Amino acid sequence: MAIGELQNSVAVITGASSGIGAATAQAMSRAGMRVVLAARRVDRLRDLAANIHANGGEAVVFEIDVAQAGSNEQLLAHATRAFGVVDVVFANAGYGAEMAVHDMSMTEIREMFEVNFFSATELISLAAREMIAQNRPGHLLMTSSCLSKFTIPYLGMYAATKAAQAMVTRSMRFELAPHGIEVSSVHPVSTATEFFQQASLRGGMDPQGKTVANHAPKMFIQTPEQVANAIVRCLRKPKSEVWTSLAVRLASGIINAFPGMYDIALRKQAKEMLHSQKKRLNRVKN
Ligand SMILES: NC(=O)c1ccc[n+]([C@@H]2O[C@H](COP(=O)([O-])OP(=O)(O)OC[C@H]3O[C@@H](n4cnc5c(N)ncnc54)[C@H](OP(=O)(O)O)[C@@H]3O)[C@@H](O)[C@H]2O)c1
Repeated sequence: MAIGELQNSVAVITGASSGIGAATAQAMSRAGMRVVLAARRVDRLRDLAANIHANGGEAVVFEIDVAQAGSNEQLLAHATRAFGVVDVVFANAGYGAEMAVHDMSMTEIREMFEVNFFSATELISLAAREMIAQNRPGHLLMTSSCLSKFTIPYLGMYAATKAAQAMVTRSMRFELAPHGIEVSSVHPVSTATEFFQQASLRGGMDPQGKTVANHAPKMFIQTPEQVANAIVRCLRKPKSEVWTSLAVRLASGIINAFPGMYDIALRKQAKEMLHSQKKRLNRVKN
């Protein structure tokens, strides 16, 4: 594909069974792209593929646990068998856990880095090597987060995985430019997907309680379709970072310039959330 020309190009999408990944698959298909849908919940992928086919698009499904060794090679091989080439790779699979850093076991920390960072990095690196070997242009993207630029209590480890993603994509953007390969990171703000409920449940929290999601200002909550449409715009006209909220983007700059001011806001939030966290800890101990 020539960069920016999407008709008939082929995209591989991890985390396509829900939320941002599913919405992006639909948006890419509407833009004329052929899509490879990857996640663990294959029944959901099949439903999504059926919907895409019903609307005249082309989609194939691949069941993957991105934490499993060798799974990324298998995914890219499956995509190439199905469509002949891979033009776009969207490493989007990921999750959070609403937990204080000191309460996480090293196994939990390593698992989160495995899915969010190591596997996503491996996937786009493998794709980059194939594109270079075939002398083909392409576009590689990762879903990072606004939390790659600042953090909040009880999502600190998650934010660390997202900051790591933002750093490698930024660097790869320049390393791969001489090969005609674009690299972009996506920085959603609070998006209405299964993410926060899953993060609360993983952390042993009551999703109805004082969770991180319930603290997010409602005015900043977005739909996965908003993120998906911004990603397709980035494919048409590549840029380094995809943001869907100028306010949060500007706020991240201010937070980094004046960390003392941000401390005041975070101390208040952390105090309110501590009660729920204690309940979680008690439940874990019992
Ligand atoms: N929602 C937000 O507010 C927000 C904000 C910033 C960034 N993000 C990021 O956006 C990305 C998508 O999240 P979302 O909001 O769309 O949440 P979501 O609805 O929970 O989707 C997460 C996706 O990741 C997949 N996934 C998780 N672990 C996996 C594994 N081991 N192997 C394969 N697939 C796996 C899930 O599929 P299966 O369970 O079927 O495998 C699912 O399709 C994540 O990287 C998240 O960190 C979200």
